[in-house]
Amino acid sequence: MNPPTSPAPHLVLVGLMGTGKSTVGRRIAHKLGWEFLDTDDEITRTTGRTVRQIFEAEGEEYFRQLEHEVLVAAWQLSTPHVIAGAGGIILRADNRELLKSAQHVIWLNAPLPILLERIGQRAAKGDGHRPLIDGNPAERLQKLYVERESLYREVSSVEIDVEGLQVQDVIDKVLFETRLEANS
Ligand code: S3P
Repeated sequence: MNPPTSPAPHLVLVGLMGTGKSTVGRRIAHKLGWEFLDTDDEITRTTGRTVRQIFEAEGEEYFRQLEHEVLVAAWQLSTPHVIAGAGGIILRADNRELLKSAQHVIWLNAPLPILLERIGQRAAKGDGHRPLIDGNPAERLQKLYVERESLYREVSSVEIDVEGLQVQDVIDKVLFETRLEANS
């Protein structure tokens, strides 16, 4: 079955946890005057449950189904959105087909030590939405990277290495690469 064509020219950010998809995405949306959608937040908004609660009660596959439904729903939106796709959004082949039909898909990438530091800082502030790296974050994140690198590459048209960049630098690069014009 062919994926539905996206009715609006969404800009999607993909990449591993900790690459800054949500922070950057929210600010780009503000600059463009577009709406912002974070797939994890949307799952929590529609189910009333956190990512961790869903993983623990129903398991990863159920979470992936919810994630898929959020992505399909985003493809029905008639106005362009900046979408922060959670780290595992590229796992399902049907998601990848949808993503490849988006106007812009940007892969935010960074060396693992940087991601681990950022993830650790967020976790210390109580952010617990990353159950896949419980226990041994370094080993688990490395595994996710190896499993997913080619999938991020497959769906994206541009890769941005965020190492050493401030949020504003990443935003500037995204706008440059997409030729989208900020209105603020
Ligand atoms: C996941 C990434 C998380 C969240 C869940 C699973 C993944 O989102 O969806 O913990 O599989 O990489 P972020 O990428 O926003 O951290």
